Amino acid sequence: MTRTLAADDAGVAEAARLLASGALVGFPTETVYGLGGDARSDAAVAGIYAAKDRPGFNPLIVHLPDLAAAEAFADIGPNARKLAGAFWPGPLTLVLPLRATAGISPLVTAGLATVAVRVPAHPLAQRLLRAFGGPVAAPSANPSGRVSPTRAEHVLDGLSGRIAAVLDGGTCQVGLESSIVLADPGPVLLRPGGIPVEALEAVLGQPVGRASSESRPVAPGQLASHYAPTAAVRLNAQDAREGEVLVGFGPVKGTLSLSETGDLAEAAAQLFAHLREADRLAGPNGRIAFAPVPLAGLGLAINDRLQRAAAPRKG
Ligand code: TXA
Ligand code: MG
Repeated sequence: MTRTLAADDAGVAEAARLLASGALVGFPTETVYGLGGDARSDAAVAGIYAAKDRPGFNPLIVHLPDLAAAEAFADIGPNARKLAGAFWPGPLTLVLPLRATAGISPLVTAGLATVAVRVPAHPLAQRLLRAFGGPVAAPSANPSGRVSPTRAEHVLDGLSGRIAAVLDGGTCQVGLESSIVLADPGPVLLRPGGIPVEALEAVLGQPVGRASSESRPVAPGQLASHYAPTAAVRLNAQDAREGEVLVGFGPVKGTLSLSETGDLAEAAAQLFAHLREADRLAGPNGRIAFAPVPLAGLGLAINDRLQRAAAPRKG
């Protein structure tokens, strides 16, 4: 039985107590809900992989309340420091050299010499991290390969009975996972996300490389099929074909719309909830079509998620 904890002092205190006891807790961030466990505990981290059915070669992000806390776990190079100064707290994850003395479970990093660190901005995430007082390993709180959760109910849909509790913070504002950057040596974008690459480049004063699908050994989580609904997904649709549920954008009208005004931030915030809703409307053996979304700004991450949702599935 998974409990729902309210967004108040008692709920935060209980979530922190559960984490300290080695239990797993879903919690809101501004991007998506995370599935949190004590990053120092092999048992808790093994539990995260088990609850999600996640392959063990796909490492987890460590969540901390601020840059000062991050310095205890990882080395912050010059580019990383610039980016952290500009975007933390916020939807940016930095891949950093792991400190030998960090005490992070090797299961978190899947044996890599680097660790992915994120400082979330969501007030409830901040309160939870400070109340717990340690590093929280947290992938998105969905079964591996499925659509990421942007509401507490989505967490329960996928993981009810597999985790101790979910802290209910309502709807996530950004709606897409963090941008992941290898800053030094770099900078290279490992996963497009909630901070547009143009904004990263403006702060760094240099171009940010893209990890292309051929040269992408670095982000093992970037499996081709991901964010998969039950229905088949077709992209760049101008209208609905027979039997399809069309998700529109801007001038392309659908049963649902990511943003009628063509606003990319609104589209990002709606993306995963609309993917779920379109899947429900499409029904068994259903089909979903998505209108084209431009590639600029947050559109890069939106298109990345749509391509993975549409990718051929295993088994
Ligand atoms: O917004 C987010 O980042 C959310 C919230 C909960 O913080 N978390 C999230 O976690 O999206 P997850 O597990 O779904 O994605 C983590 C990604 C994976 O693609 C993984 O391969 C990559 O981070 N990653 C983790 N550690 C890494 C490392 N040391 N080097 C390269 N990639 C790493
Ligand atoms: Mg995920």
